Amino acid sequence: FDIPLIAPRLLAWYDAHARALPWRAPPGANRTDPYRVWLSEVMLQQTTVATVRPRFEAWVARWDSVAALAAADEAEVMAAWAGLGYYARARNLHACARAIIAEHDGRFPEEEAALRRLPGLGDYTAAAIAAIAFGKRAVVIDSNIKRVAARLAARPTGEVRDVVDAITPDARAGDFAQALMDLANALCTVRAPKCLACPLRENCAGFATGDPAAFPARKPK
Ligand code: ADE
Repeated sequence: FDIPLIAPRLLAWYDAHARALPWRAPPGANRTDPYRVWLSEVMLQQTTVATVRPRFEAWVARWDSVAALAAADEAEVMAAWAGLGYYARARNLHACARAIIAEHDGRFPEEEAALRRLPGLGDYTAAAIAAIAFGKRAVVIDSNIKRVAARLAARPTGEVRDVVDAITPDARAGDFAQALMDLANALCTVRAPKCLACPLRENCAGFATGDPAAFPARKPK
């Protein structure tokens, strides 16, 4: 578990293997629209990438900005969410768009603490937007990132916040977070992780134990 090598190795892997997803800027484009980052992160909270992808595309075709969404009727927004579940997310999405127009001159705040005060934005979403849309150094933790960090450090998931903080770089924290998500999806899977293809194998305390899938420990029944 060699901290300084993790970010450069993971970012190099991400540059070669990042999933092309509609809410991500195309490689080299350097365009990160906070509206798209926010919308995608809210949709992805309880819904899979495969389900979100077409729904995200349809949504941005209909409402292409926070101003357009704020101007929509709540009933239309709720109807457009149909099938995605957890409808509080849709109600908060609309309330958040209106709050950004009314209280922030129509622009997303860039700091994690200010983002956290918007309707529906929890610790994860605020950190993800600050890092991915605004290039801030933020410690982004979701369940997949927890699993990767628990394995890298061979620790229980309850202790991974310090691990993610320690390995998050000052530059490219948003790419780093998304690289952890892509690594979790492609290689560092719940069952049968593909360690032989992993760029972090030599930095991974879980791999060194010989049984990386034992981390994070499953809760006893
Ligand atoms: N899951 C949640 N946010 C994501 C993102 N930005 N990329 C891929 N998967 C995600």
